Amino acid sequence: MKIGFIGCGNMASAMIGGILKKGIVKKEEIIVSNLTEAGSRRSREKLGVETTMDNRQVVTQAEIVFLAVKPQFYEEVLTEIKDLLTEKHILVGIAPGKTLKWLEDTCGCPVKTVRLMPNTPAQVGAGMTAGCCNDRVTEEEAQKIREIAESFGRFEFIPERLMDAFSAVCGCSPAYVFMFIEAMADAAVAQGLPRSQAYSFAAQAVMGSAKMVLETGRHPAELKDMVCSPAGSTIEGVRILEDKGMRSAVFEALTGAAEKGKRL
Ligand SMILES: NC(=O)c1ccc[n+]([C@@H]2O[C@H](COP(=O)([O-])OP(=O)(O)OC[C@H]3O[C@@H](n4cnc5c(N)ncnc54)[C@H](OP(=O)(O)O)[C@@H]3O)[C@@H](O)[C@H]2O)c1
Repeated sequence: MKIGFIGCGNMASAMIGGILKKGIVKKEEIIVSNLTEAGSRRSREKLGVETTMDNRQVVTQAEIVFLAVKPQFYEEVLTEIKDLLTEKHILVGIAPGKTLKWLEDTCGCPVKTVRLMPNTPAQVGAGMTAGCCNDRVTEEEAQKIREIAESFGRFEFIPERLMDAFSAVCGCSPAYVFMFIEAMADAAVAQGLPRSQAYSFAAQAVMGSAKMVLETGRHPAELKDMVCSPAGSTIEGVRILEDKGMRSAVFEALTGAAEKGKRL
């Protein structure tokens, strides 16, 4: 089964990296399109896959077609390719706000449609992706989609009505976590640590903490309490974070991102 990507920038490259690494298909079985010759060259050199600047060629050759252009180009690209879509194609949208119904209506024909929301940690095989399918997608095809998405991290199917919430928690949140790491590193530098070490120390602490949540199955509050000794330095930091409204700021940021996602 050949896999195609219309648009091969950051996200498509991360996904293809996982697909090739896990051997889901060989590189000869992937075709990607870009807008520019420079983009095509970049995809060929980085991924070794077949490239074209003709989006229609992707649809004629591939059965699973990922739409990996920016959301504002979705309509233009679908208009360009829709007459080539058949009942054997699976069209996969990865843009926020582009619902299964929007994809189907824009194609104007009964097409198997999947919506996936990956995140940038997919670039290092640690993505968290959620997805949903329309009812034309068979169980076997859904499993293929799962296999593809698991090649670049974790994956779960969720009801479509939860995709905007998921996008905020997983699609957007890496940006907030990077801000947190940056702020931690700045504070570390202020305390005298060299900047080169400050980022990796902060990042490793965040990664280790996340791993504890995932692997111990314990509640984050319990894990937090384990770090806070009575009258110690950690609980003093907790007091300051509560005073500065850290929880509320995170709550508001994710709510704002989810609401904005619904309007895209
Ligand atoms: N980044 C994220 O965290 C994230 C997370 C989830 C979903 N997404 C979604 O993933 C999609 C891609 O995002 P990205 O960050 O990978 O974007 P990107 O790095 O800017 O890549 C966009 C790609 O689309 C190509 N392109 C533009 N117009 C095209 C056209 N008309 N026909 C064919 N190719 C075209 C570009 O080609 P050239 O290089 O030749 O210009 C480039 O390869 C977006 O819809 C985004 O919402 C992103």
